[in-house]
Amino acid sequence: MLQDAVLQASDLTRPLDAVDPEVEGLVAAELRRQSQRIGLIASENLMSRAVLAARAGGLAGKYAEGLPGARYCGGCEYVDALEEIARQRLRGLFGAEYANVQPYSGTQANMAAYQALCAPGDTVLAMDLAHGGHVTHGSAVNFSGRLYRFVHYTLDRDSERLDMDEVAALARRLRPRLIVAGACAYPRLLDFAAFGAVARDVGALLLVDMAHIAGLVAVGLHPSPVPHADVVTLTTHKTLRGPRGGAILCRAGLARSIDRAVYPGVQGGPDVGAIAAKAVALREAAEPSFAAYQRQVVANAAALAEALAQRGFRLVSGGTDTHLLLVDLRVHGLSGRQAERALEDVGVVVNKNLIPFDPHPPMRPSGIRLGTPLVTCRGMAELEMVEIADVIAEVLRAAARGRSAAAHLAERVRDLTQRFPLPV
Ligand SMILES: Cc1ncc(COP(=O)(O)O)c(C=O)c1O
Repeated sequence: MLQDAVLQASDLTRPLDAVDPEVEGLVAAELRRQSQRIGLIASENLMSRAVLAARAGGLAGKYAEGLPGARYCGGCEYVDALEEIARQRLRGLFGAEYANVQPYSGTQANMAAYQALCAPGDTVLAMDLAHGGHVTHGSAVNFSGRLYRFVHYTLDRDSERLDMDEVAALARRLRPRLIVAGACAYPRLLDFAAFGAVARDVGALLLVDMAHIAGLVAVGLHPSPVPHADVVTLTTHKTLRGPRGGAILCRAGLARSIDRAVYPGVQGGPDVGAIAAKAVALREAAEPSFAAYQRQVVANAAALAEALAQRGFRLVSGGTDTHLLLVDLRVHGLSGRQAERALEDVGVVVNKNLIPFDPHPPMRPSGIRLGTPLVTCRGMAELEMVEIADVIAEVLRAAARGRSAAAHLAERVRDLTQRFPLPV
């Protein structure tokens, strides 16, 4: 009897719907939601079937603390080979001297980078959250803001772009240990060469967080930070179109400090399945079709921005050079939160977002952020961006008058999602 129970408990072959129909149902519902909505969250993307297969291939249970050839446990010969391939591909794709592919996420990558480059209490200069920076760039509610003395630069009030003279002046005054460049809601190109010059001028180190733009950088649609930065962090799941995770590039001289900061500094054993999937995504990113995909992502963002502007919406900085855009809703009398809800009601998924010099707090900001990586994976192009802009404009105009959107708008969204099904 006991034997039967033990055997049943250790039967690891039962399918998900037999073991846990509740979770299986929710997973299926989420996948259905994704296929039936137009996803415009700028940080989201899809994984290819190949990336998913590598990630789901049962590798995650393997322990492999340490690095290829120097692990703390046995049985790592294939894991070593996988991690080596991922590291080489990452270095090769971005032309970097050294790569670490173990960070579980962009947050862990930044945490490790700060630990490698700074001591607690050091002064760090980074972009203000309301102007496009990320919470890991010194927000008071984040470890970064608690451990280090962050001071934030902002955008120019008129152009809503970075003014590098202002960044330089602030850096000269503060003499920071580290300057951080990178953003999660800045629609324009960042001048990493200028950041490098400022850092050199004041004797600071330069960390570039290219989490959002890694896919664009990989194909030359955004200038690369690699020649100018001491350390570059990234996420692999946004424009880079890989599995959820992070990575770090650095100069050879910093390799040991970065490795030790990742493990044992801020992480335990690496997620080997994620590393295998990163390797696959990096191979895909080196294919010519990936460059074509990224070009369409940027063209789609530009088309969406232009179509929204034609329909009376103000875009922060007047437009975009990248995969994302920010819409200022103040003249429409709508908050970002109201807009997010109204759009969700018809099946368009966006996120509320602070805009530069936003008079409102992060949970009630004045804008929305839109991005095109996901819809571009579905095969949508400029024509569909105009159609989406049309839907967004009608929904928001109705919301501004206190009305809910007409049923025909949800029907248009349904039609678009059916014409452009999820490709995986
Ligand atoms: C610029 C930037 N850095 C870091 C992160 C953190 O990435 P993760 O969510 O993987 O921790 C993000 C996520 O949106 C980001 O946009």
